[in-house]
Amino acid sequence: MAGYMSEALLDIVDLNRHFPIRNLWGRRTGWLRALDGVSLSISRGDILGIVGESGCGKSTLGKTVAGIHPPTSGSVHFEGHEIATLSPSAGRAVRRNLQYCYQDPGASLDPRWKIGRSLEEPLIVHTDMTRTDRLARVQATLHAVGLPERHLDLYPHEISGGQQRRVGLARILMLRPSLVILDEPTSGLDVSVQAVVLNLLLELREAFALTYVFISHDLSVVRLFSQRIAVMYLGRVVEIGGTDRIFAAPAHAYTQSLLAAVPEIGGRRVVENFWLEGEPPSPGALPPGCRFAPRCPRADPHCRSHEPRPERHADGRLVACHHPAITGDPI
Ligand SMILES: Nc1ncnc2c1ncn2[C@@H]1O[C@H](COP(=O)(O)OP(=O)(O)OP(=O)(O)O)[C@@H](O)[C@H]1O
Ligand SMILES: [Mg+2]
Repeated sequence: MAGYMSEALLDIVDLNRHFPIRNLWGRRTGWLRALDGVSLSISRGDILGIVGESGCGKSTLGKTVAGIHPPTSGSVHFEGHEIATLSPSAGRAVRRNLQYCYQDPGASLDPRWKIGRSLEEPLIVHTDMTRTDRLARVQATLHAVGLPERHLDLYPHEISGGQQRRVGLARILMLRPSLVILDEPTSGLDVSVQAVVLNLLLELREAFALTYVFISHDLSVVRLFSQRIAVMYLGRVVEIGGTDRIFAAPAHAYTQSLLAAVPEIGGRRVVENFWLEGEPPSPGALPPGCRFAPRCPRADPHCRSHEPRPERHADGRLVACHHPAITGDPI
C-alpha cells in the first residue's frame, strides 16, 4: 500500500550479555553466556513471541533490551536511538517508551505501597505532570486494565494474582510506552484467568497502540498470540519467522522438538517424533560448533566443529542450522 511501510521499532544486533561464573572464593572461573549474539527486529504494531526452554536467556533478553542490566556488547536501536551504549540517566529518558513487565508480577510492586502510590510513582519520577493530571491518568489506566477504583487504596497482598497482573500492566502503561516486553504474562494463572489476561493484552494493544515482545514457554499461547516467533536455544536465536510458517513446518531440529511437545487440540500429546533428550549443556560450558549438536539427530561432524550462522530462506525465515528442514537453498 502506497505511503505505508512497516517501520522497525526495535532493532537488536549481536547482543551479548555474559555473567561471570565465580567459585566459592569469589574468583571468576569463566563466563556464562546468557545472551550470545542475538539479532532480531520488530516492527511497530507487531507481536513477537520469544520461546525456548527454561534458562535459554528469554528474561535476560527482555531485561537487557529494557536496560535493567547493561549488555556486555551489541547494539539496541529503538525509535531512532542507539540505547545500548547510553548512560543510565540518558537511557532512562529514551526508555520511557520501552517497558519490561516482570515475570513475577509481585516483583514490580512495592509491598509497602498502596496500589495508587505504585501507579503514580513512574509519573512522579519521569514527568512533571501536576498531581491532578497524575491522578487522572492513574484512574484512566486502572480503568483500562479493568480494575475498580477502590483498588487504589489496597496493598499488593490484598489482591489476587490475576489482579496483581493487571496492576503490573497498569504500572508499565502509566508512561504510555510504545513497546512492552511481557515476560511470561500468564504463568501461574489458571486457564480461565489466562484467557482473560490475554484478551486484556489484545485490548490494551489496540487502545494504546502497543507493540509487544511476548516471552512465554507456553507454545500454544504464543501460537495464538504472536505474528512472529523467535526460538531461543542457549542464548541464541536459532529460528525466527512467521508463526504460521514455523508451526506448519519448523525448520530447526530444536524448533521441531519443541513443537512436537505441544498438546494437540483436544489435549492429546504428540510424542511420536519427540526426540529431544537430556538437559541442554550449561551456558557456561558450551560445546564447540553448533550448540544444539549434542542433542540433535541430524548433527554430523561438520555441525560439531562449525557454528551455523542464521541464513534467510525464501519465506523470510532466518534459521541457524547446517541441515534445516526447509525446501530451497538460503537466499
Ligand atoms: N543476574 C544473573 N547473574 C548470573 N546469571 C544469570 C543472571 N540472570 C540470569 N542468569 C543466567 O542466565 C541464563 C538465562 O537466564 P534467564 O532468566 O534469561 O532464562 P529464561 O529463558 O528466562 O528462563 P525461564 O524460562 O526459567 O524464565 C541462566 O543460565 C541463568 O542462570
Ligand atoms: Mg525467564
